Amino acid sequence: MLIKIPRGWELPESKVTPESVFRGRREFVKTLSLAGIGASVSGAETGLYPATRNTRYTLDRPLTAEAIATGYNNFYEFTLDKQEVQHRVGQFKVEPWKVKVTGQVNNPKTYDIDDLVSRFPLEERLYRFRCVEAWSMAVPWTGFPMSALLKEADPKADARYVRMVTAYRPREMPGIVSQPHYDWPYEEALTMAEAMNELALFCTGLYGKPLPKQNGAPIRAIIPWKYGLKNIKSIVEIAITKKRPPTLWNKAIPTEYGWYSNVNPTKPHPRWSQAHERFLALGPGGQVGYTMRPTLMYNGYEAFVSELYTGDEF
Ligand code: MTE
Repeated sequence: MLIKIPRGWELPESKVTPESVFRGRREFVKTLSLAGIGASVSGAETGLYPATRNTRYTLDRPLTAEAIATGYNNFYEFTLDKQEVQHRVGQFKVEPWKVKVTGQVNNPKTYDIDDLVSRFPLEERLYRFRCVEAWSMAVPWTGFPMSALLKEADPKADARYVRMVTAYRPREMPGIVSQPHYDWPYEEALTMAEAMNELALFCTGLYGKPLPKQNGAPIRAIIPWKYGLKNIKSIVEIAITKKRPPTLWNKAIPTEYGWYSNVNPTKPHPRWSQAHERFLALGPGGQVGYTMRPTLMYNGYEAFVSELYTGDEF
């Protein structure tokens, strides 16, 4: 059964390069103009963006062009085709939106998204972003620390993990219907210590604007030292648990996608090396290309997170 799972987002780049990495200027310009269609522009949110940048977090590379970050997406609830996601999100309703905070906490609560973004001060952070497939970007995210929400929820003494769940809306998410073999809804999880780390964010925007639907509107997780698959999109539930929650990819193929999924150049995926990354960028002719860079341990965030790990986590 597992063998039948199509795993488009982990295809070797040799298979995706012809259509997705080197594209003609004309097609790319078309993508640029259509990218805006998926944008979620909430009237209530407009005064919040752009948020003030937190200069503590710096990059060793230029920012990725916005058109690439919003036009080359993994969001399997819509389609496996990265460049198609932006065109399939039209029916996805991100307003109104509620996020339920539940489980081993003294203050369980269901928040309206407008309440969340006004309650926890938003800031912009420039982070590296690395997919398990080996492509990478550098993105200006807008959000608030996970720790702010968790502190308000007030975890009980036996709270150990944070489970996050994506919306399950087959009528609005065509990929759920066309790919029934995945164990929907998409679920991810962190240890409490990981979620409390200063780098871990709940994000509601990017490039100084509310998150476009294809990037996980209206709220997603950004955990920059982990592979992209941990960065769950369009979250409706955050549950604090005693036991380690299962996660979609780890459940599906545990030998290939670890529960931790920390970026680690020394641990190859069974079918490709993780020693280098393909940093996406616009080519001189306006096409999407990439430059190869060595993968950094914990995606370059070792100083922030190494104390959380022995190094053997998978
Ligand atoms: N979240 C949900 N709900 N569904 C998904 O398919 N894909 C993950 C992650 N979050 C995914 C998801 C993967 S594999 C990656 S690399 C990132 O989202 C991609 O985020 P981006 O499209 O904003 O670059």
